[in-house]
Amino acid sequence: MSEFNYRNGTLWAEEVSLEKIAEQFGTPTYVYSRAHFEKQYQIYADALGDHPGLICYAVKANSNLGVLSLLAQLGAGFDIVSGGELERVLLAGGDPSRIVFSGVGKTAEEMRRALEVGVHCFNVESEAELGRLEAVAAECGAKAPVSLRVNPDVDAGTHPYISTGLKENKFGIDIEIAPEVYRRAAASPHIKVIGVDCHIGSQLTEIAPFLDALDRLLILADKLADQGIQLEHLDLGGGLGVRYRGEEPPQAGDYLAAVMERLGERQLGLILEPGRSIAANGGLLLTRVEFLKRTEEHNFAIVDAAMNDNLRPALYQAWQDIVPVTPADGEAELWDIVGPVCETGDFLGKHRTLALQPGQLLAMLSAGAYGFTMSSNYNTRPRAAEVLVDGDKTYLVRARETLADLVRGESLVPARLTTRE
Ligand code: LLP
Repeated sequence: MSEFNYRNGTLWAEEVSLEKIAEQFGTPTYVYSRAHFEKQYQIYADALGDHPGLICYAVKANSNLGVLSLLAQLGAGFDIVSGGELERVLLAGGDPSRIVFSGVGKTAEEMRRALEVGVHCFNVESEAELGRLEAVAAECGAKAPVSLRVNPDVDAGTHPYISTGLKENKFGIDIEIAPEVYRRAAASPHIKVIGVDCHIGSQLTEIAPFLDALDRLLILADKLADQGIQLEHLDLGGGLGVRYRGEEPPQAGDYLAAVMERLGERQLGLILEPGRSIAANGGLLLTRVEFLKRTEEHNFAIVDAAMNDNLRPALYQAWQDIVPVTPADGEAELWDIVGPVCETGDFLGKHRTLALQPGQLLAMLSAGAYGFTMSSNYNTRPRAAEVLVDGDKTYLVRARETLADLVRGESLVPARLTTRE
């Protein structure tokens, strides 16, 4: 059941009406349901049960401190990809020993900081990165815990921009050469080999590609064990899809059960890095219709949210449902829901059948993941407010940006010196 439901003809987030949220905080505003995040995280945690391992929420999906703090309170682990995400997790009260650090381009400074706070593991994506980590750990007198991210060359069957486990992608180390890299890592006094990981893509709607990748990782882990390199854990990354438009993705519990069965008697811990499946359907983007504009070709509803607030439709032609907060009377027509940004690609949804009026509130659903985190200030638009609903309480977990926020750090240049003739 969704935490966003109609009651008495208007849409609510848990126990708060969205009309009220718009009145109090304005639009555009991201609205999150605490209960949804908790429920989704708990499904993973329960499915893992007593099996050693971690559910490391992928911070990039939604990195608001309020969201991170509620997950930290549940004892979640975190998957980070930058020094910035690391500091966010720490600010939110996350436990550094439950952090895995992914990403293809970690800087020496980021590595130093992660070693200093004691992250659980570095997911190393190349030999060059391993070399840098080794040098940084030596300089710090530390031994860096490492898992190699391998590229298992499986087709995740998802959008090409979010498919990451094919040979042609920039991610991970070719699984064929991984044993050699493991030997090098295991021989280093500054590296502690603890795991293997992969992440084959995002918004997967089938279990099969995950299990294909798992099988390949298990063959590798067994081979390494034969060579005396015993891994402690296996990390399958994130990637489980959600329903945006009629998809029927597997349930996290079923997915994990299938994985655990495959692990069999092996003494291998399990790490997962779910982002979207925890966050996406826990949020919506609340926006108001500014103008209705009819042309010969199209009906446009110009709303106050735009591609800078949610880039997914423009970048991936992604579909997210758009619904009226309080359905208006009148005949439904076909509308393109577009923003005020000066780009033809600035749309939130095309060909939507809705009865619209100026001033009406709309909710773009499934916006809890990769919504705010991918937003920008394009067209000098302040980023939206973020509100977290917990039962009948609302928390402004990020204030709407102001013009002062937007120009912070910028400066004018002095007038050009006149040159002599
Ligand atoms: N772990 C790693 C190493 C990743 O690269 C990602 C996502 C995740 C975990 C989390 O994956 P999830 O469970 O959320 O599928 N912006 C795109 C999605 C990009 C995903 C990037 N990596 C979108 O809006 O669809």
